[in-house]
Amino acid sequence: MIKFNSKLPNVGQTIFTTISARANASGALNLGQGFPDFDGDKFLKERVCHYIEEGFNQYAPMTGVKELRDSIAKYFNIKYKHNINPDTEITITSGATEALTASILAFVKEGDEVLVFDPCYDSYVPAIDLAGGSAKRLNLVGEGFSLPFSKIEESINDKTKMIIINSPHNPTGARLTKADWVKLAKLVENKNIILLSDEVYEGICFDEEYHFNPRNLASLADRLISVYSFGKSCHMTGWKVGYLVANPGLTLEVRKLHQYITFSTFTAAQMALADYLSEKVDNFLNLGDFYKEKRDFLVDGLKESRFKVLKPSSTYFCLLDYSNISKLNDVDFCLKLIEEHGIATIPISVFYENAPVDQKIVRICFAKDQETLTRALDILNAI
Ligand SMILES: Cc1ncc(COP(=O)(O)O)c(C=O)c1O
Repeated sequence: MIKFNSKLPNVGQTIFTTISARANASGALNLGQGFPDFDGDKFLKERVCHYIEEGFNQYAPMTGVKELRDSIAKYFNIKYKHNINPDTEITITSGATEALTASILAFVKEGDEVLVFDPCYDSYVPAIDLAGGSAKRLNLVGEGFSLPFSKIEESINDKTKMIIINSPHNPTGARLTKADWVKLAKLVENKNIILLSDEVYEGICFDEEYHFNPRNLASLADRLISVYSFGKSCHMTGWKVGYLVANPGLTLEVRKLHQYITFSTFTAAQMALADYLSEKVDNFLNLGDFYKEKRDFLVDGLKESRFKVLKPSSTYFCLLDYSNISKLNDVDFCLKLIEEHGIATIPISVFYENAPVDQKIVRICFAKDQETLTRALDILNAI
């Protein structure tokens, strides 16, 4: 037997795999999976086939095809009134996951500390571990899952190299306001700390305001690496096309990693996305309205249920508090929902290092078609 020491000894099968396997085995309705059960626009499918037929089948430039970087720069200008240089500040990656991992590996070294906030997306901590850094995990606080500013202030020290922020936030559907970002900017002022900002759900915000893009705060622009995903904005998670935006100095450094992790990303998909973003930009600008209908259908439909619904202000996730229904912990409650009620959800304790002991909350994903959501309401209202 070959002997080796695992670099990630604590990583095993994720709860997402376990829940999905159980849901498939029992034929349960799957609201656990965090992706749409419907396809993206036909336009995109036609364009990708078109570009494949036209011979766009070799490596794309390492930084991403120019057409897509130009379309992104235009989009930023329309939506956020922000000018970014498509050549020196935008890099196309194989999904947001690659952008996040490359950014962490580029800057975090042995002994560095990285602040992350639980519940947090599961790719951050393994990447920090691989880089030789250590994750300092702080819990988001209160019903609104807000940043714990005083704990952040206490936790920042000379070893703090990076803070990872996710807004709009998976799994809670919460998001940071401009005031939150201003407070955070104050805490890192004059400190050598990079902010890695995971904004993959930037297009899915409800109610009157767009996502607040922290790039619009001049005091942050220099230390910010912002990460986005076309998987989320185009209902095409399987295409794995994302991008990062950062100033030229930070970009150069992340590109060194990207160059040797994947080098480049599926060329024909990049070309198709470039057309889509420039010719159908309204679909991106109105993504929040598209998902708001689904959110409202779900939240209104659960008004009479025994669940307490924590109405999300963004993303396609919604949290359900089941403390009126069961004393089980959330993992056992999710398994019971699958076995006894035929519906799969995700326990949010798996997004924590130390979940609050009395927290009884599960996550459902409402990026589902009307029929799935209607069936889900029937099941949840009968519990
Ligand atoms: C918060 C968050 N960040 C990053 C990602 C990864 O995005 P991609 O599929 O583009 O790699 C996801 C996907 O679920 C996510 O929820």
